Amino acid sequence: MTRPRLVGLSANLQRPSKTRTLVDAVLREASARGPLDARVLDFVDAGPGLGAAWTRDQLTPAARALLDAIEAADGLVVGSPVYKGAYTGLFKHLFDLVDPGALAGKPVAIVATGGGARHALVVEHAFRPLFGFFGALQIPTAVYASDADFQAGVLAEAGVQARAVEAGGQLAALLAHRAAQGAVQGAVQDVAPVALAAAE
Ligand SMILES: Cc1cc2nc3c(=O)[nH]c(=O)nc-3n(C[C@H](O)[C@H](O)[C@H](O)COP(=O)(O)O)c2cc1C
Repeated sequence: MTRPRLVGLSANLQRPSKTRTLVDAVLREASARGPLDARVLDFVDAGPGLGAAWTRDQLTPAARALLDAIEAADGLVVGSPVYKGAYTGLFKHLFDLVDPGALAGKPVAIVATGGGARHALVVEHAFRPLFGFFGALQIPTAVYASDADFQAGVLAEAGVQARAVEAGGQLAALLAHRAAQGAVQGAVQDVAPVALAAAE
């Protein structure tokens, strides 16, 4: 059985990044629970070629790699810093270019970071409708962290750490379930032609 591909996507425009740290944390928790082909990409990897593209064809190779990784993934951890009370405009811009059917039924974990706690519910009122549009299988636990939850760039707050553990566990369970389902369906498809041929 091939390992499920888990892609972490962080919309940070600077490094080091608290958002990337939080995406890493959820991805690490998921990876600790079973074999996954996991990697994290962030917007610094994509460079300015992402914002300059109005269509998929105009994406630079580095920005296109982000889009391709999202569409090929079996599951995602998506994260953005909060800018002006929502995910960043560039985060939405990237998902505006994603094929509308590419995330249907795929497990997605949502994370966000902001300066303070005031916008903590952004994960519920901004991210969830977007991934609802895609028909993604959003895991129940979304993770939000404020500046004060990090110390020297490390996630230090116990409550946020616990939510990252919970989110990683939910994501890993769904990925494993879907991988097992895929394996069973593949086996049925392999057997069916043989059974049909025998009946003829
Ligand atoms: C343009 C801009 C707008 C921001 N707007 C908000 C905001 O509305 N609410 C908030 O809590 N933090 C806001 N912040 C703070 C960032 O969300 C916060 O520092 C975040 O953790 C940065 O993530 P990063 O380290 O991954 O870049 C804003 C920061 C910038 C640069």
